[in-house]
Amino acid sequence: MSKHSDGIAPHGGQLINRIVTPEQHSEFLDKADSLPKVQLDERATSDLELIAIGGFSPLTGFMEQADYESVVDTMRLANGLPWSIPITLSVDEATAEPLKEGSLVGLYDPNGRFVGVLELTQKYHYDKKREAVNVYRTDEDKHPGVKVVYDQGNVNLAGPVWLMQRDLHPLFPSYQIDPAESRRRFKEKGWKTVVGFQTRNPIHRAHEYIIKCALEIVDGLFLHPLVGATKSDDIPADVRMRCYEIMIDNYFPKDRVILAINPAAMRYAGPREAIFHAMVRKNYGCTHFIVGRDHAGVGDYYGTYDAQYIFDEFEPEELGIVPLKFEHAFYCEITETMATSKTSPSKPEQRIHLSGTKVREMLRRGELPPPQFSRPLVAAELARAMHE
Ligand code: ADX
Repeated sequence: MSKHSDGIAPHGGQLINRIVTPEQHSEFLDKADSLPKVQLDERATSDLELIAIGGFSPLTGFMEQADYESVVDTMRLANGLPWSIPITLSVDEATAEPLKEGSLVGLYDPNGRFVGVLELTQKYHYDKKREAVNVYRTDEDKHPGVKVVYDQGNVNLAGPVWLMQRDLHPLFPSYQIDPAESRRRFKEKGWKTVVGFQTRNPIHRAHEYIIKCALEIVDGLFLHPLVGATKSDDIPADVRMRCYEIMIDNYFPKDRVILAINPAAMRYAGPREAIFHAMVRKNYGCTHFIVGRDHAGVGDYYGTYDAQYIFDEFEPEELGIVPLKFEHAFYCEITETMATSKTSPSKPEQRIHLSGTKVREMLRRGELPPPQFSRPLVAAELARAMHE
């Protein structure tokens, strides 16, 4: 694993910072009215943010065609560096038509706020079906990630970007810890090894189990829930954040955990997203990354361990972060502990595990998930939120 002055090297070697300087800020503000305007959706807004803070290092902007096609076809940027998810700004023909390559474009968030500037170096058409099949492994528009691709515009606008200002997250300001800051905190804590945990669900005991297995072998945990766009039936981020706080306050050694938000949007791209999630956490300074069962999956689109197998398609050095792979964890009634088939003698009927969908159904019926699945304080919080 290559080193950096603040721990593990970011992907590509350098932590990108595309937040404007005060001079650029006034220059862009002065120009704003004269620039063509493009409205970003929620996903593109969070992508802009992640590029600017270095979460997507080495990207400095939305992908040009050579990078885009290379990523879609080979899971690598045009220069060969692993990268598994296209980061694009897609607009409709009418929006793209008047924009001139070589000019600056003002970027506006879904609320109409001027949030960034794109130096438009390229606009290009792309093949949506190819992106769907290669990245999501399906062309069905029932897949929530594929649906986003099919619904978005036909033209990608590409080029370097600048973020006008780094605002604090309106709901979770104290958990907004950007890559430069997480790296600083890991160093301050003296953590040489840090495991990153991606999640988009309320924390349950299988999560807790795999996290704690990982904590046995590293110095610290970077609990990094995704709070960007998710599909409508996922549990909202504010409820999830309260559950993570409850877990840390009651069931974890507090000084070994840093809770921080990941502003990214979910793609539900399963295996490809697992690689992407790992690269992003490497940029935040993590040395290890947890990949469990059906990581970033949705429905039955991916095999249970596909998101683990995909790591074998790369050399460990080119990824530069160690995947910690865990089997499907459950509560074992024989040993009365959390376990996996690697550690439990149980038969399938002696294992308690619930899907997120089942838990949501239980909560809707006013039932609490059992303590073998969910810590009671977390279950109570979920029930409370469900009936708010
Ligand atoms: S995800 O879309 O962010 O992957 P989720 O929040 O459910 O969804 O999962 C977070 C991480 O925990 C992922 O690495 C996932 O593979 C892992 N995970 C979730 N449930 C289990 C389980 N029962 N056993 C093992 N790993 C799990």
